[in-house]
Amino acid sequence: MELIYIDIATLDDLEEIYRIEKSSFKTPWTKELIREELTFPLSLNLVAKYNGRICGFLLSWQIPPEIHILTLAVEPESRGIGIGRALMEGLFAEAEKRNCCKFTLEVRASNKDAIEFYKKFCFLPKGVRKKYYQDTNEDAIIMWREKGDDRK
Ligand SMILES: CC(C)(COP(=O)(O)OP(=O)(O)OC[C@H]1O[C@@H](n2cnc3c(N)ncnc32)[C@H](O)[C@@H]1OP(=O)(O)O)[C@@H](O)C(=O)NCCC(=O)NCCS
Repeated sequence: MELIYIDIATLDDLEEIYRIEKSSFKTPWTKELIREELTFPLSLNLVAKYNGRICGFLLSWQIPPEIHILTLAVEPESRGIGIGRALMEGLFAEAEKRNCCKFTLEVRASNKDAIEFYKKFCFLPKGVRKKYYQDTNEDAIIMWREKGDDRK
């Protein structure tokens, strides 16, 4: 059976994370920015391995009791088989160990797929940051998942 395994990301994972980042976003983060996140003291970063190979990642900050998800991606050829779910469930498990129970993120208003994905995990749209994304001047939807939002 093929197994999805979630691990804490390290600097050794930089190249793989950058590869997935480039294949997932029109305006990818630079390798330097990802490197900074992988060494930032407040970071809680995860990688998903499928058959031992990194195929997804999630970068976040832990500011108890909150987790701020910065970015999340699964390589295009490995989407739709539960890797995004494994990353989110891995995050919730790590968050519990660190006394974090609230989760927030910003997502591009046009990224309907990601918004639907986050709704699956009981994230609710709670606000808008106007023209948040400098590359397109696009608005960000602010989503939150708090205690009581996870009744599903
Ligand atoms: C969003 C993303 C991470 C989802 O990863 P994935 O591995 O394909 O997701 P999964 O297969 O684990 O799906 C998890 C659940 O979300 C649902 N889901 C995934 N994409 C969805 C969509 N577009 N619309 C509705 N539901 C969706 C799945 O049906 C699944 O539900 P289920 O477990 O109840 O069956 C992936 O599509 C991606 O990398 N997108 C590009 C990067 C991106 O936009 N990231 C977000 C930036 S804020």
